[in-house]
Amino acid sequence: HVKTREQIEGMRVAGRLAAELLDYITPYVKPGVSTGYLDKLCHDYMVNVQGTIPAPLNYAPPGHRPYPKSVCTSVNHQVCHGVPGDKMLRHGDIVNIDVTVIKDGWHGDTSRMFYAGEPSVQAKRLCEVTYEAMWKGIAAVRPGATLGDIGSAVQRHAESHGFSVVREFCGHGIGRRFHEEPQILHYGRPGQGPKLHPGMTFTVEPMINAGKRDIRQLADGWTIVTADHSLSAQWEHTVLVTEDAYEILT
Ligand code: MF3
Ligand code: CO
Ligand code: CO
Repeated sequence: HVKTREQIEGMRVAGRLAAELLDYITPYVKPGVSTGYLDKLCHDYMVNVQGTIPAPLNYAPPGHRPYPKSVCTSVNHQVCHGVPGDKMLRHGDIVNIDVTVIKDGWHGDTSRMFYAGEPSVQAKRLCEVTYEAMWKGIAAVRPGATLGDIGSAVQRHAESHGFSVVREFCGHGIGRRFHEEPQILHYGRPGQGPKLHPGMTFTVEPMINAGKRDIRQLADGWTIVTADHSLSAQWEHTVLVTEDAYEILT
């Protein structure tokens, strides 16, 4: 899917609003707050302040029950799609907050890692290396580069630090639909896979584990955790392929 100038302008607006939502929630992320309360704050900000629609709420891809909340909060060994609830954040927890807003039909999708109090040295390192890995992937984005260039750049950085890349979830094309083609794998070989073209919009959102790459799904049908209960981190941007490189939309 190659977007027109007008469609890209819609994506810029949605992307900016998604980033602003994460800015808004940042000061609330601290020990003693429940993830359910963070979800409620985000929901109200989207609906009442931004005039955006929370894309996750009731999202039901094939094989899934409708997602019950407005954002995803994945704490410590939770990899992604953590469902907000009554459990409070504790000192030293690391948490990914993943938000997707819809504005005028366009989606903006972004996530960051947050610290509740002061994390362990290892937890902090994992979050930092995952952030760097996301940027290594984004830095490979330009017309003529391949999807394998992105994935291999992410994988190389994560594995060079002794961490592992989750395979079952990936980045994705995004636009009028939340998840569209192509799939953006966070592993691969340079030069392999489809080529990038100006006007494509997709996410880069590596999930990196401190231990082994294997994952499990919890009985809630959504929350993904590491099989070995090691810590996991994720960062996400929505990007546009430009004439000479990329533009970050979030
Ligand atoms: N925001 C996630 C992504 O980056 C998708 C969450 S789907 C949900 O693709 F239903 F769990 F919200
Ligand atoms: Co995404
Ligand atoms: Co997301």
